[in-house]
Amino acid sequence: MKFTLLLLSLLAAVAPLQGQRRELMLRHWQFSRENAHFSEVTVPHDWAISGPFDKQADMQTVAIVQNGETEKSEITGRTGALPWIGKGYYRCTLPLKALPQRALLCFDGAMSEPHVFVNGVEAGWWAYGYNAFRLDVTRLLQRGDNLIEVHLENRPESSRWYPGAGIYRPVTLLLTSATAIDDWKSFVRTESLQGGVATVDVLTKLTERPKEQLSLVSRVRDEEGKVVFTTRMDNVTSDSLFTQFRFTNPRLWSPETPYLYTLERQLLSSGRVVDTQVQRFGIRTVSVSRDKGFQLNGVSRKFKGVCLHHDLGPLGVALNKAALIRQIKLLKEMGCDAIRTAHNMPSAMQMDLCDSLGMMVMAESFDMWKYPKCRNGYAIYFDEWAERDLTNELLHHRNHPSIVMWSIGNEIPDQTSAWGAQQARRFVNLCHRLDPTRPVTQGVDMVDGAVKAGLVSELDVPGFNYRLHRYDAAYKALPQGFVLGSETASTFSSRGVYHFPPVPNDTMYCADGQCNSYDVDYGSWSNLPDDDFMMQDDRPWTIGQFAWTGFDYLGEPTPYDRYWPSRSSYFGIFDLAGLPKDRYWLYRSVWNTEEHTLHLLPHWTWPGREGKVTPVYCYTDYPSAELFVNGKSQGRIFKNHLSTVTLGKSKNLDRYRLRWNNVVYEPGELKVVAYDDNRNKAAEETVHTTGAPVKIKLEADRKMIHADGDDIAFVTVSLLDKDGNEVPTATDELLFSVEGKGKFKAACNGDATSLEPFTEPRMKLFSGKLVVLVQSITKKGTMTLKVTDKSRNIAGKIKIKAI
Ligand code: GAL
Repeated sequence: MKFTLLLLSLLAAVAPLQGQRRELMLRHWQFSRENAHFSEVTVPHDWAISGPFDKQADMQTVAIVQNGETEKSEITGRTGALPWIGKGYYRCTLPLKALPQRALLCFDGAMSEPHVFVNGVEAGWWAYGYNAFRLDVTRLLQRGDNLIEVHLENRPESSRWYPGAGIYRPVTLLLTSATAIDDWKSFVRTESLQGGVATVDVLTKLTERPKEQLSLVSRVRDEEGKVVFTTRMDNVTSDSLFTQFRFTNPRLWSPETPYLYTLERQLLSSGRVVDTQVQRFGIRTVSVSRDKGFQLNGVSRKFKGVCLHHDLGPLGVALNKAALIRQIKLLKEMGCDAIRTAHNMPSAMQMDLCDSLGMMVMAESFDMWKYPKCRNGYAIYFDEWAERDLTNELLHHRNHPSIVMWSIGNEIPDQTSAWGAQQARRFVNLCHRLDPTRPVTQGVDMVDGAVKAGLVSELDVPGFNYRLHRYDAAYKALPQGFVLGSETASTFSSRGVYHFPPVPNDTMYCADGQCNSYDVDYGSWSNLPDDDFMMQDDRPWTIGQFAWTGFDYLGEPTPYDRYWPSRSSYFGIFDLAGLPKDRYWLYRSVWNTEEHTLHLLPHWTWPGREGKVTPVYCYTDYPSAELFVNGKSQGRIFKNHLSTVTLGKSKNLDRYRLRWNNVVYEPGELKVVAYDDNRNKAAEETVHTTGAPVKIKLEADRKMIHADGDDIAFVTVSLLDKDGNEVPTATDELLFSVEGKGKFKAACNGDATSLEPFTEPRMKLFSGKLVVLVQSITKKGTMTLKVTDKSRNIAGKIKIKAI
């Protein structure tokens, strides 16, 4: 019944084309792992995210060369310990009342090796699961019902992190006239910006040479919808058209002012509209130079960036707008202004949001070329697909103002050979040909070898992953005159977990499978964030950094790759649930120059530690502060600005942190008073020892969401003691239920060692917190999330409106 209704609604949507393009979102599919028993699913979909977690899933016996390992051993959880390997089958029925002149099936990525069939005939396939591709299916469609099928296969040992599984990004059917605007081949770009005048070039490509004389009308609108330009070109006979707009005092795009104009192009034939295409664009220039480093709109700046993998924690890789917006907003609050899409092409939705919310992007493509990092990784496709992949990435994304740089690879094992340098030249040239406006980089980790092989000189931007101790020499040896930290600070931490004593540590790990939230654990190939801050502050020729990583991600549970259970990363500044770890405030104190930061760690509830040394750190932008334990001063200290980078040895922890290393724990109140540059009291922060939990606290990121069946409210849950303090040590199991116009979607507590499935309505608190995701259905009204703690006989409720 439901399916019939769906068919009817689609049928109504696909009325005969009258010279207008139509984009149909193919959301409702049927899915099966065996091509036999199908169930209904909504795309974007990740077939593996519900689990179960399993130690055996994609267990790999390898040496992780990137981490300096030479001996092979069994590693678990490397790709998330979820059932993503194997085949998956999707099908959907598309009723067409009339046949379109042109039909393109547009995929934004499907994991992986998608083979697409229309009415039983293979329309085409794509190898790389991360890339967008389009198939012309005009001739395969028929009047009435059309069966679209997608067959996927994920190979074992094909990834170094959780790749996800299924049609995890949107699929659309684009219907146009035969002669239409080709939005992949068309390009809107800011050519120059000088003396308040911006020149914007618009290249409009048509899908074919017009068979009759056409007119092209182009209108540019500002954000209020006001038309600021109109041009008209008549007697169009070519399939390639060029227009130039000169804007006086335009509103420029930047992360701080993400202003977007809209270009509306119409093709007309004797006054009749043949096609209309709408394209958002931003006016902005990017450049790199020896004297000025990286410039956006002619102003030098250093990237305050993070690397992100593509999963969205408990949602897996299934793309979700609310989750992406939440990520970007959280990062912006930290002062972050850039994302590196490690190590593959991003989704169009994420780039749209970076455009509109203001986030610069380094869009990456590959984690390997010809030499494999894992047995069935991209290397098996490289020869046949690399150029096609890069081409699709650029065509699909080059109209996004947020993208300021392309990256042609991450720690490519071939980087130290002459062949590798040749490939770099080939890819850089291809990028320049398809997009002369953006610089090209690559994340290089074997700095000396890659410089010697000539690969780094081929890049517009020398990007180094870690290896701070190689920056100075490379800078001197290279022609570019600046260096980017394309990947920095692989620091490990578990939210709210503190190990004593906190000492910088790149070798010893703990029996609990957790890392130290004092932010002192890091990879031996890397360093702590403090060293990167120094590198950026002390070397004028550095152009910023991309910290590994903004959020924890599924898979790569280093340093617990051989520890079970452990199935997600510890690298994140935020945990897998999107909750800030202490490190968030460390970055914020340096990066957010708009608002003050004052944060104390650790928490102050340590039964059994009475009388023991319990160091206290404060992350703040203020230069000094005084600490009090139950009113007793522990001394006032200043940041030590004299410390400089010790070349990756992570010993300089007093320049960006205030540390009281000898505090003796006694329960009660921990208070910090911060002083500004004029030595005036500026702010204070207090942490209390907490008592037993008596109440559940629920805080939604949004209390009003869209009734579109996609939107999600993220509700943070914690327990409060009788004085209203959040209990940081609580680990109670909680139960979730949603009533009304919404549903329980998932939960996550950020514990990398938890095997509780994200999609079951129960979970334990981790360090006192977890996040419940509540999703709208397609009905307006109120939904109520109820959270119950059976062990204490308490419950809490929160209402969310779907509008
Ligand atoms: C880098 C690599 C990343 C991740 C990171 C962990 O070498 O580029 O993908 O593995 O190490 O520290």
